[in-house]
Amino acid sequence: MDLKIKNADLMGLKADLLVLNLFEGTTVPGGATGRINEELNGIISKFIIKKENFTGKFGEMYLLPLPNCENYTKLLLVGLGKREDFTINKLRELSSYIIQKAKKTHNVKTVVSMLHGAGCAGFKPFDCAKAIVEGTMIGGYSFDKYKTSKINSIKDFTVAEIDAAKYSEAKQGFEKGLLVGDTINYARDLITEPAEKVTPDYLSNLASELNLDEVKVYEQFDIINMQMGAFAAVGQGSVNPPKFIHMEYKPSKARKKVVLIGKGITFDAGGLNIKTATSMLTMKDDMSGAAAVLSIMRNIKKFKPDIEVHGLIAACENMPSGSSYKQGDILTAMNGRTIEVDNTDAEGRLTLADALCYAQQLNPDVIIDIATLTGACVTALGSVASAILGNNDELIKKLLGCADKGGEKLWRMPMFPEYESVLKSEIADTKNSGGGKGGTTVAALFLSNFINKTTPWAHIDIAGTAVIDKPVAENPEGATGVGIRTLLNYLLSE
Ligand code: BES
Ligand code: MN
Ligand code: ZN
Repeated sequence: MDLKIKNADLMGLKADLLVLNLFEGTTVPGGATGRINEELNGIISKFIIKKENFTGKFGEMYLLPLPNCENYTKLLLVGLGKREDFTINKLRELSSYIIQKAKKTHNVKTVVSMLHGAGCAGFKPFDCAKAIVEGTMIGGYSFDKYKTSKINSIKDFTVAEIDAAKYSEAKQGFEKGLLVGDTINYARDLITEPAEKVTPDYLSNLASELNLDEVKVYEQFDIINMQMGAFAAVGQGSVNPPKFIHMEYKPSKARKKVVLIGKGITFDAGGLNIKTATSMLTMKDDMSGAAAVLSIMRNIKKFKPDIEVHGLIAACENMPSGSSYKQGDILTAMNGRTIEVDNTDAEGRLTLADALCYAQQLNPDVIIDIATLTGACVTALGSVASAILGNNDELIKKLLGCADKGGEKLWRMPMFPEYESVLKSEIADTKNSGGGKGGTTVAALFLSNFINKTTPWAHIDIAGTAVIDKPVAENPEGATGVGIRTLLNYLLSE
């Protein structure tokens, strides 16, 4: 899809579909919708609103053929809802619905839209354009490379703004939105590709080709040498060897150093504690955290935060085999702490343990990890919100704000030490799991063993939100690229 913004009059453009909006309860349309209404002899006010009872409720849509219009074949009127309820996040969501509707509409290949939100809603043109592009790219995404008959896609999507001043601000937001959308959709591709293709080696090759200041890839031999005993154990059961990936972005005047860690289990069969067919079905997705981090690093030179950013991925497969790690094994992580393996399916936290140790050797100001870590998180928050935990209130609050701004739902879960008792081991410093309840907190408490108390650290559990089986707001079913908007907002606002 070719996405463009133009400083133009809507009636000076041509497309299969024209998209206009209306706030709930409007009887006399104003702004761009009003102008087109006049131009089309009051078809919106007299017909769509009066005769067809279009009320303008949020997400309401009315599709009308325009046989007498030279510029457009069809008109799509969309409801913005009540003015006081309308937000930039709602606009992003609506933009996703619009493109999904356009995709489903017969014979629509090209779309022209007004710049929603910058008129009577009074939002900044920058924010409107950014949200529209993000929503359009999220809703317009499809993964059909393995389908012999392709999904109908929109060729051209153009936003038109007649006011030159608004346009020039909007243009900036548009460009930014394109970059955010590209980051999200690249991650979605990586997540959706089968594990047969996306192996640790594949991820490390992608990372090596990125435009960055440095990329280091550590092989199995190096991983063992660096004393990453927890990570190495998880990877040892697979014919596809583990890779530890370190991506670096170092701008000349960095005010801060941030490490992002993405859980990179390219397939989680559970190991010897093998999963059931149903729960294994989606486990190619267990690298969604890694996909988010890799995709951010892929575009980071374009986003240009003035922060030094390190992206880490401990990539491996968790497979059952004759060489797999076993229940009862004692592993030693990079910081010397010993772990008794209670369950080989609690593998993500083992890989993250060593990644966290490695991260601290970089002396960062902040560490954030993002991981499809616990089924308990799916139970607690479903596929709507991700969980956030950590050791620093200020960092967590900041990230909650960044998520909200980006339209991602993030919810804080507790780190009460009382939950940790299940991890007590008779013969090692800790177990990797203890079964029972409160699994998201237990996992985060396990991770905190590998964080020195003074480094601000946040852990984001995206087990329920990384891939969804039915749409949630702007996200259609499938991989969402969740976390990217939150992390980008953080890097760009710090
Ligand atoms: N990758 C899974 C967590 C997961 C579950 C992600 C469902 C997405 C959807 C993780 O490695 C795992 O298996 N966790 C176990 C831990 C348990 C054995 C302590 C879980 O949550 O069941
Ligand atoms: Mn697992
Ligand atoms: Zn896993």
